[in-house]
Amino acid sequence: MREMALAMDEAVQDSLRALDVEELRRKYWEQGEFLALEHLFPPAVVDELVAEVHQVRPYVNRNYIPGHKKGGSVSYYILTEQAPATIAFYRSPALLTLLNHLTGETLLRCPDDDPHACALYWYTEPGDHIGYHYDTSYYKGARYTLLIGLIDRSTSRLECRLHTKDSQRESQHLSLATPPGSFVFFNGDLLYHAVTPLGKGEERVVLTLQFVTNPEMTPVKRWFSNLKDAVGYFGLPALFRRAPRMSTPR
Ligand SMILES: [Fe+2]
Repeated sequence: MREMALAMDEAVQDSLRALDVEELRRKYWEQGEFLALEHLFPPAVVDELVAEVHQVRPYVNRNYIPGHKKGGSVSYYILTEQAPATIAFYRSPALLTLLNHLTGETLLRCPDDDPHACALYWYTEPGDHIGYHYDTSYYKGARYTLLIGLIDRSTSRLECRLHTKDSQRESQHLSLATPPGSFVFFNGDLLYHAVTPLGKGEERVVLTLQFVTNPEMTPVKRWFSNLKDAVGYFGLPALFRRAPRMSTPR
């Protein structure tokens, strides 16, 4: 496990070596705490994560909230048990160093009782999508989302509206594909975003990683946040920190 963590961190470090971090930091702030890079992580990193996507496929929890979202998810609890490379990626010190440089904050990973800390989103059936929303922080500090594209054989797009909370700036609209190895990072309270419906015969899987400036949350907000995640993403077992039973592999 420790060897895997070291090897993953080294691979992440290699991927980031050539980056002009100062330029990316300038762009992140210019775009209202938002940065998207189409090809950041090479196959050396992505292939390991994609292999685990296929391993956890039987654990996908499908969810449907009329008028808002339809899709599948795999929670942090399951990934912790079944996906060591994915967890090593989430815990990579090199990755955290990059995010700290971009934000100017000392970011922390979410606590272990947050099923959303590190999770997979699956878009596999026609019409799978999510409507416009912010990744609101229920923590005492700010919450940041990092999306890593893993599988994208789809016409779905991540629709982003920048500067919606900045009265001094015109709102800006971006429509992004998330191919394998792509990187999208933002302050969850600032980016209004959605995913357009999946077409027939298409598939899209994205890894989502959450970081915070303060991992404390009041018990009431923790309960509300986990309830929201149970209904909208991971199923009721996640409320009780249990992995759901495996469904029949598809
Ligand atoms: Fe989101």
